[in-house]
Amino acid sequence: MTLKALSATQFQFENQTHFYKGKVRDVYSIGTDLLVMVACDRISAFDHVLPRAIPHKGQVLNAIAGLFLDKTKDIVQNWKIAMPDPHVTIGYRCDAIPVEFVVRNYLTGHAWRVYKSGLRTLCGNVLPEGLKENDQFPQPIVTPATKASEGHDEDTTYDEILEKGILTQAQLDELYRISLALFQRGTEIAAEKGLILVDTKYEFGMRNGQIVLIDEIHTPDSSRFFYADTYEDLQRNGQPQRQLSKEFVREWLMENGFQGKEGEVIPPMSDEFVNSITERYEELYRAMTGAPLERRSYDQIEIQIENSIKQALKQIEHE
Ligand SMILES: Nc1ncnc2c1ncn2[C@@H]1O[C@H](COP(=O)(O)OP(=O)(O)O)[C@@H](O)[C@H]1O
Ligand SMILES: [Mg+2]
Repeated sequence: MTLKALSATQFQFENQTHFYKGKVRDVYSIGTDLLVMVACDRISAFDHVLPRAIPHKGQVLNAIAGLFLDKTKDIVQNWKIAMPDPHVTIGYRCDAIPVEFVVRNYLTGHAWRVYKSGLRTLCGNVLPEGLKENDQFPQPIVTPATKASEGHDEDTTYDEILEKGILTQAQLDELYRISLALFQRGTEIAAEKGLILVDTKYEFGMRNGQIVLIDEIHTPDSSRFFYADTYEDLQRNGQPQRQLSKEFVREWLMENGFQGKEGEVIPPMSDEFVNSITERYEELYRAMTGAPLERRSYDQIEIQIENSIKQALKQIEHE
């Protein structure tokens, strides 16, 4: 029997001013200052939401993001106020900066595809000759992307962000510095768990004239992780890395003829496949936290979530 999953929500809260349905998360604006984010169990790949939701995925994402937001507060302030339910974070609504700050320490994914095509620069960074897939860079690099409101994000550069007047040079320098510091912290925490933080993306916003870290961080949806213990051997033998990310979902899609291009059809997902994705997210949670996931109850989940949000909002507004 397939488990229940939370594919979408439709709440109406007091003082609700806006609703945005992201690819994965349902975002409710409350008044002018607050955001309620429900990490649903939807899964996206190649910028497409897949037809079936993955039980417990939202809970895993929400928990990992919360953990890392708490462990990076000394580097930069972030948007999180409370997590009243395993699927929910409430925090400050910020004016999102339309740049994704991608940090990479390995030649993987998009970076590898660019390199393989013969190019030796990525978003203004010069890449050394002679690297193979999943090799480590001399040091982490920032490869920014513009956050397009529709469809694919596009690579950009430090200079282009300034030319377009998106940020001042002082702001951009500060955001590069913060992104690299966050990546360093993420790398250290992952290493304690026997994992390598391969690459990740950060989003920032402005609130009361200050930079705030927003969105999720260091989750399997926004990052790639390798197992550290097998990394060297696999590299030496030219074998694929053991990954903790949704890369295997992308691979399954590609094997079944889907790369997110026009005219392609998303292959149907069997119960077995959905269950295997849940298990991978669970494995990731355990690797990252050292404890098994406590599978939340899906019994009347919408009501559970709605009530915990209402209660938390009341409390926050009284503070
Ligand atoms: N504190 C915040 N203030 C404003 N916007 C935010 C904040 N945190 C996250 N967001 C935005 O909320 C959305 C989260 O939902 P997601 O499923 O990731 O959507 P998307 O399909 O846009 O990536 C993102 O667009 C992200 O930029
Ligand atoms: Mg997103």
